[in-house]
Formats: sequence, structure tokens, C-alpha cells
Amino acid sequence: MSKKEIVVSGIRPTGKLHLGNYFGAVVNFLKLQETHDCYFFIADYHSLTTHPDSVNLKQSIRHIMAEYLALGLDPTKCALYIQSDLPETAELYLLLNMFAYKGELERVSTFKEKVKTQPNNINAGLLTYPALMAADILIHQADLVPVGKDQEQHLEMTRDFAQRFNHTYQNEVLPLPQAFSFGDELVKVPGLTAQGKMSKSNSEKDAIYFTDEPKILRKKIMSAVTDSGPTEPNSKPSEGVQNIFELMRLVSNADVIEKFKKAHADCTIRYGDLKGQLADDVEQFVAPFREKIDYYYNNPEILNKVALSGQTKAKASARKTLDLVRGAAGLGL
Ligand code: TYM
Repeated sequence: MSKKEIVVSGIRPTGKLHLGNYFGAVVNFLKLQETHDCYFFIADYHSLTTHPDSVNLKQSIRHIMAEYLALGLDPTKCALYIQSDLPETAELYLLLNMFAYKGELERVSTFKEKVKTQPNNINAGLLTYPALMAADILIHQADLVPVGKDQEQHLEMTRDFAQRFNHTYQNEVLPLPQAFSFGDELVKVPGLTAQGKMSKSNSEKDAIYFTDEPKILRKKIMSAVTDSGPTEPNSKPSEGVQNIFELMRLVSNADVIEKFKKAHADCTIRYGDLKGQLADDVEQFVAPFREKIDYYYNNPEILNKVALSGQTKAKASARKTLDLVRGAAGLGL
């Protein structure tokens, strides 16, 4: 039997999971765990680039682990681990840093954005973020990396670093991984405030979280950015309205969406009804997960057990890669 392809992906514990994380990444994790050799982790080292409060960080790590389990990741089918439980990643990061050039790191869009948003904390970890991400992926010699559209550039850099490593040591140790989504393209889920992709770093009202209480959820969605309504038949919806249609595509029935699209085209649409429908459908989608998330979050023994078994699986795979990489580079006696 041929070897299963290897899949790796992670999420930063910077808060709770939102629908962007789910439809951009986690839906793919759920399918891939059935057929592939999967490693999914919580990227706590990466979070340190923004100096989070340590108590909040620990809570976020536990919360994301609870969400992974509640959303259906199964620790008997995939390795679920915490990035910092696998310090082998940090060693590979050090080696990959030798192949990451300052100029290219400075041109990365996520870095440029952080330079704008946190000008007083442009640390070396932030600059070399893509090298750490490459280490996460290459430590398991991944073939596929299920991520949202915003991570595409990091995947290109991962391939560049791997290629340079292989070339320098004349050794094809590191396979070149591809960003992956089951759809035709990588996904970008929009937020509610028409500021591009759904993100925890946009305003409070932008992201829809699995743990949002029904009232909060409805309030957020009802205040989503729209416009004053179409005045010309068949006009193109504004960005905010388009975003609502895109969110509906993820959680609503096709005939309901069609009905509202028609109403937009003939200028009879009422945005209150459109948002009300989205709020109902999102609520229906997230409600079954709320209790499960709570259950796992409040059962530390389950979380600890899962993290330990994930660490054991991940370590075995990481050790193999490090031996190859160290050998190729000529390290040690
Ligand atoms: P992070 O924590 O910002 O996001 C986790 C995953 O969710 C996806 N995502 C989205 N997808 C579609 N639409 C959105 N609005 C949206 N928002 C977030 C992201 O693309 C990602 O797949 N650098 C990574 C974490 C990481 C990683 C890795 C990922 C560290 N090492 C190795 C893959 C492999 C990040 O900050 O994702």
C-alpha cells in the first residue's frame, strides 16, 4: 500500500475560533483526518510575537483545544498537539533561519501589516515568523497544508526555504508542501464590517465566534455593514451586502439565498430581513457546538490527555525529520 500523504496545519491561540477559521481551515482538517496522516497543532510560540498576557494565552490554548475536539477533530485519527510541546520545531526553525533572507522577510504582507499596527514591537520573532511556520510544516515533511487564503504567501516561502535547504546540501530531505483546500481555491471568509477577511484583529463586531451567545450573535449580524439599498435593477451589491451573501453561502439553503438575490436584483430587498435570515442560519449552525466546547473546556483531564498523546505522535515524526536534516547539514560528531 502506498504511504498516506502527510497533512500539517495550525491555529494561533489569539482568542476563540471564528467562522473564518472554521470554513478556511477546520472543515478541511475534518475531512483530511479520515484519509490522511494528519498533524494539527496550536501555534502558541507564534502568539508570543505580540506579547500576550500569559494567563490569557494559557486560556486561549485550552480553548482552542476544546474547540478542535468539539468541532470534530478526533485524537485517534490525527495528532492534536501544542506547538511548544514539540521543541524540535524550534531547532528546525533555527536551521531554516539560515535560508531566510532579511529582504524577503521584510516584504511579507503580514509583517508589513504588523509594522503598521504595532510599531513599538517589531521584534525578530515577528520578522522570522515565516521561518517558524515553515519549521512547523517541514518538521513532519508535509505534503498538504490546509489553510485559508491569507496564508498563501507563507506557504510559498516555506517552499523556498525547503528548496534552498535541499539545494545547499544536495539532498532532497524536505518535500515541498502545497496549501490546500477541498474547494477549487483557498477560502477567504469575509467579516461583518466590510474590512476584508473576517479577523479577530478587526473591530469587535467583525467576527462571528462559535461561543457568541445568541443575543450577541444576532446583534452583531443585525449591525453588519450594508448600504442604503439598491436603486437600479440588477445592480452589483456593495461590499457589505456581497459579504452577507457570501456568509449565507456557508450556512444557508441555496433557495433562500436565491430568493434574496432576486429581491436585490428587483430592488425589493429589505436588509433587515436578509440579516435576520443570516442570524437564524448562523445560530442554527453554531448552536450544537456551544455546549460541546463548554464541556471540553471544563474537562482539563481530557485536554491534557489529548495533548500528551498528540505530543507523542508528533515527536516520533519530528525526530525522524530532525535526524535527516541534521545529517544533511553535517551537524554533530
Ligand atoms: P490564524 O491563527 O490566523 O488562522 C488559522 C487558520 O484560519 C484561517 N483563517 C481564515 N480562512 C478564511 N477566511 C478567514 N477570514 C480566515 N481567518 C483565518 C487561516 O488561513 C488559517 O488557516 N500563521 C498561521 C498559523 C500557523 C500555521 C502554521 C498554519 C502557524 N504555523 C503551519 C499552517 C501551518 C495563522 O496565523 O493562522
